[in-house]
Order: sequence, then structure tokens, then C-alpha cells
Amino acid sequence: MIPLADRYGRRFPYLRLSITPVCNFRCTYCLPHGYHAETGVAGPLSLEEIARLLCGFAELGMHKLRITGGEPSVRHDLTDVLRTAAATPGVTSLAMTTNGTLLSRRLGEWMDAGLNAINVSVDSLDRAAFARITGHDRLDDILHGVEMALAAGLPAVKLNAVLLRGVNDQELPRWLDYLRDHAVGVRFIELMQTGDNLAFFRDHHVHAETLEDEICEQGWQALPRAADAGPAREYRHPGYAGRIGIIAPYSKDFCAGCNRLRVTATGDLRLCLFGEFGIPLRPLLQRDEQLDELVSAIGGQIGRKEQGHYLHLGRTGISPHLASTGG
Ligand code: 5AD
Ligand code: SF4
Repeated sequence: MIPLADRYGRRFPYLRLSITPVCNFRCTYCLPHGYHAETGVAGPLSLEEIARLLCGFAELGMHKLRITGGEPSVRHDLTDVLRTAAATPGVTSLAMTTNGTLLSRRLGEWMDAGLNAINVSVDSLDRAAFARITGHDRLDDILHGVEMALAAGLPAVKLNAVLLRGVNDQELPRWLDYLRDHAVGVRFIELMQTGDNLAFFRDHHVHAETLEDEICEQGWQALPRAADAGPAREYRHPGYAGRIGIIAPYSKDFCAGCNRLRVTATGDLRLCLFGEFGIPLRPLLQRDEQLDELVSAIGGQIGRKEQGHYLHLGRTGISPHLASTGG
């Protein structure tokens, strides 16, 4: 096993694999008109291709894997994907990011397949605001799924909330009420500009530091950064069961702790969420005998990873929205 490292000494034990660009939601900042298939675009990787891809990354030291989309649960073979992922040598953490629409119905099945961490997108705790943001009045059912995940003892339950000025940026008191007795981590994510959302971004972007200052004033304390921590800054408070994470992509040093690589649903390796290019791995996923070639292809590309993104310059890279890259 040769662990991957880039020119800046960063290591990449963490892979985020999108298994579909399709989503059933219409989040205003991501797919405001819903998902529309482009004609002539290849379908997502098959289960066999995924298995080969994961073996390649395992050889390169991957031990944390996150399944993303789009919305992963629109794939009918999601449980098989999870089972394959959990069986990959060296994978100690198998996480998934989901909008939670199938969570309450499929949680048991997913956990049996080996899922041990989940991030559920909950942009608002207000039912009407949630429906306005996502296009679906599903907040209660999704929160019920979250309760089920906690009750079932899923080791890590996190909620993602993208901060949107004038939409959900006044909800801290509501979140604090929730966190008092829910042992979840909420991640407040600063809105990122993507290829398609410039006008929306201009209207709704708010710096995550504003919220970070507020929580600090309320006595939340920053946790020391774990060695393998990603870009989130984590806070806790003795009076609360839950934790708060702040993801501030525009802040200085955001990229210094980068520990992840991405592969899109069609098998393109993306060295950065906001990168300008993808590296097609699919041709190397057609036969088991291609493993060595796959491993050297990935290893050979890592030197192209840049020190940071250029989001602050408005350079969003090739992704029209995060559903296409795997947020
Ligand atoms: N900015 C910030 N977060 C985003 N997400 C999707 N698009 C954006 C964006 N433009 C979030 C989703 C989900 C996670 C996968 O990424 O809300 O929680
Ligand atoms: Fe779907 Fe996630 Fe995009 Fe919302 S943010 S439209 S849930 S992919």
C-alpha cells in the first residue's frame, strides 16, 4: 500500500464517490429547476465498476468513504453499493450524504449493509422555509428519520444546513433548542458559488464567520483540530448534547487541511470540488486485471492537485452545481 500524498504534503485517506447526478429535490442553490438529464451523457458507474474503483483507492490508503450524489437513494441498487463499499479492504468509515427522503424507510437496510455515518441535508428547522428551499414539504418525515438513526445507534449523525441570507440565517435559536437534547452535529455551510448559481449567490451569500461569532458569544468552544479533520471547525458546549461545525470555504487556510478526493458518478476523478478538469477513470474500470493501471493512474495525477481553490476570485471550476460533482 502506497498512501497518496500531494506536492503540499497533504494525504488523501478520504474518497467522496458520487453514484448518481440525479436528485429528487430542487434546492434553490443547487438544482432550482430540478434535475434534467443531458442527452448523450453516460450513465453512472455500475456496481462492478464501483467495486473496481474502490479496490484501486484502497490500495492507495483510502479508509474513509462517503457515498454522495445527486441523491444516492434514487439509485435502486444503493444497498448493494453500500455492501460493496463496506467490503472494500481498509474501509473503516462508510458514510453517506442524503437529503433524507428515504431515510425513515431504508435506515435499517442501509445499516445492515455497513453504513456507519450519515449526513442529512436539513437547511431549515422551519417547515415552511424547508419546503421553500427544497421544493418538498418533507421536514417532519426527514427529522423522524434522523431520530430513528439516533435511536438505532448509528455512530455518526450529522445535519447539513447551507446558510442563506434572508432565508434561514435567523434560525440559531431554533437550532440551539434542537441541539440541547439531540446528539447530532450540525454543519453550517457557507453558500458556495457554482457555475449556475451566480445571481442566487449574490443575493444570499453570508459569511459563516458571522454565525461563528454568535455561537462563540454564547459560550460554544472550539474543539482542538483532529489530525485527520477535514475543513470543518468544530464547536461544543457543556449545556448541549449536539455539536456545531462551521464550514467556511472562503476563509483563509480552508484548503490547508484538505484530505479528500472526489469521483463523479461517471467515474471522473476530481482533485478539487472547484477544479477545472476531471480525469476519466472509467476506461480503467472495465476488467479486474486493470487494477495496477488504475492505481498508477490515480497516483500519477495527484501531483496536479492545486494548493487551494480560486473561489474568492469567482473561479468556480467546471461544475454547474454540486449535484454534478458530488457535494
Ligand atoms: N454551497 C454550499 N453547500 C452546498 N450544497 C450543495 N450545493 C451547495 C452550495 N452551492 C450542500 C448540500 C448538501 C451537501 C452535499 O452540499 O446542501 O448538504
Ligand atoms: Fe438535491 Fe442535494 Fe442539490 Fe438539494 S443540494 S437539489 S438535495 S443534490
